[in-house]
Amino acid sequence: MELLEGIKSRRAIRKFKKQEVPKETIERIFEDSRWAPVVAAFRGWDFVIVRGEMRDRLADLLTQNTVILRDLFAMMDPDSEKKALEYYKNLGDAPTLMFVTIPELPEEQRWEYSFQILTATTEFMQIWLLAHREGLGACGITVPPYIGRQIQEELGLGGREVIYGLSLGYPDEEPIAKPHPRVNATYIGY
Ligand SMILES: Cc1cc2nc3c(=O)[nH]c(=O)nc-3n(C[C@H](O)[C@H](O)[C@H](O)COP(=O)(O)O)c2cc1C
Repeated sequence: MELLEGIKSRRAIRKFKKQEVPKETIERIFEDSRWAPVVAAFRGWDFVIVRGEMRDRLADLLTQNTVILRDLFAMMDPDSEKKALEYYKNLGDAPTLMFVTIPELPEEQRWEYSFQILTATTEFMQIWLLAHREGLGACGITVPPYIGRQIQEELGLGGREVIYGLSLGYPDEEPIAKPHPRVNATYIGY
């Protein structure tokens, strides 16, 4: 898949086929994501991949997002709001969920904390694109702290904070590709 074509055709998928994602495919994605840019000193993040009964339990916990994120959804256009609410009923039946975790850090280490999130995010984005290359669909999963703590407990992740997730599976929808509005870019001396 050509790079620009891959970037432009990746979409958030919120409806998945009932087809398992093979571990070998996920392994290939992680192997290839090792080329993501990184701040080596802050390599503290990791990924937890969940399917089966535990996946169902965590998807169940995440239904709380229909209430917790209500204000956020209300800011969306009605169509996106509907999609977002529908997604949280069972994460589009995604067979596999991936969660990104970073070490729990005290407030004084806020700077390191932001770096952990930034570096985890660069790899997270690379994973999303690589998943797309494998023919998989994915959608971000917002994990508010209240749910993050419950997921942490379910997974026995003492000392590690769950910052966000990604649902993974074979797409059962084809959303129309569209770019997002451009953000402001200020040129100086250019
Ligand atoms: C970190 C992160 C978390 C996200 N969380 C959610 C979410 O909880 N629910 C949702 O419907 N979309 C979520 N999204 C947004 C979608 O995954 C998607 O990227 C967005 O709707 C834009 O659509 P597109 O990816 O097709 O361009 C999240 C995206 C990111 C990067």
